Amino acid sequence: MPRAKSSGRKGPSHIARRTRPLVAATFAMTVDGKITTRTFSPVDFTSREDKLHLLRMRSLGEAVLIGRSTLAHDNVRLGLPDPKMRAEREARGQAPYPLRVIVSNEGRIDPALNIFKTDFSRIVIFSTTRMPRKYQVALRDKATLRLSEARTVNLARMLRVLRSEYGVRRVACEGGAELFRGLLELQLVDQLNLTIAPYIFGGKDAPTLTGRGASFLPASVRCSLVELRTIGEECFLQYKLRYAK
Ligand SMILES: NC(=O)c1ccc[n+]([C@@H]2O[C@H](COP(=O)([O-])OP(=O)(O)OC[C@H]3O[C@@H](n4cnc5c(N)ncnc54)[C@H](OP(=O)(O)O)[C@@H]3O)[C@@H](O)[C@H]2O)c1
Repeated sequence: MPRAKSSGRKGPSHIARRTRPLVAATFAMTVDGKITTRTFSPVDFTSREDKLHLLRMRSLGEAVLIGRSTLAHDNVRLGLPDPKMRAEREARGQAPYPLRVIVSNEGRIDPALNIFKTDFSRIVIFSTTRMPRKYQVALRDKATLRLSEARTVNLARMLRVLRSEYGVRRVACEGGAELFRGLLELQLVDQLNLTIAPYIFGGKDAPTLTGRGASFLPASVRCSLVELRTIGEECFLQYKLRYAK
């Protein structure tokens, strides 16, 4: 693969980590690197073990982070069904459920989604004043709206707010690809938990981990392998991400 050159710019990851939470992203992908099909339809291509793994990774953070499109397609509640995981959190001094954080520039988040039918933990939406008024009205009593005047959400600022105002030390990012890429471009992902599932989807329109964008990242990101486990036919990898200074 051609190597992207470092821009030489210092990214926000160089902002002292104590001012923002650690960001750990968790994804499953096929052998050919696809995270879903080209239609983005919910597709179940991983095992029960992988689903448990996702919940375990979710259970470690004070917050779980998701992009608007993944939320809309997968219609997840972002809970923790296993009482043992909740008890472990409480033993660590965390709330039983992580704070649920949704990111959207345009703010057209369907208030009828399952996540808004549950109140086991607070929901915070980082969006912009582009969110249409009717969505603001419908979402206001279901979630805390953090709307910025800018056209796009400033992810680095969002993480600083999560740290300083919500006491979040670790964020479990569950994608999707566009959000992951945005964080990666700003050098804001610290850990990647990756499951490789035994399938090949093919198709240039099916997104990979960093989406369908044709362009390279501003600089290639070095992934240091921390852990490798195989369970059945799946491979569970954990990488620590390192960025060019
Ligand atoms: N295999 C896996 O592990 C895995 C994991 C996650 C998701 N997926 C799949 O991936 C597909 C969705 O992928 P995707 O790339 O479209 O999802 P995504 O990143 O969840 O959603 C993209 C949307 O999120 C918002 N967003 C993303 N980055 C943002 C940023 N920097 N600032 C503000 N808002 C931002 C925007 O919302 P607005 O348009 O509202 O502005 C954007 O259109 C789904 O099919 C899902 O099932 C698979």
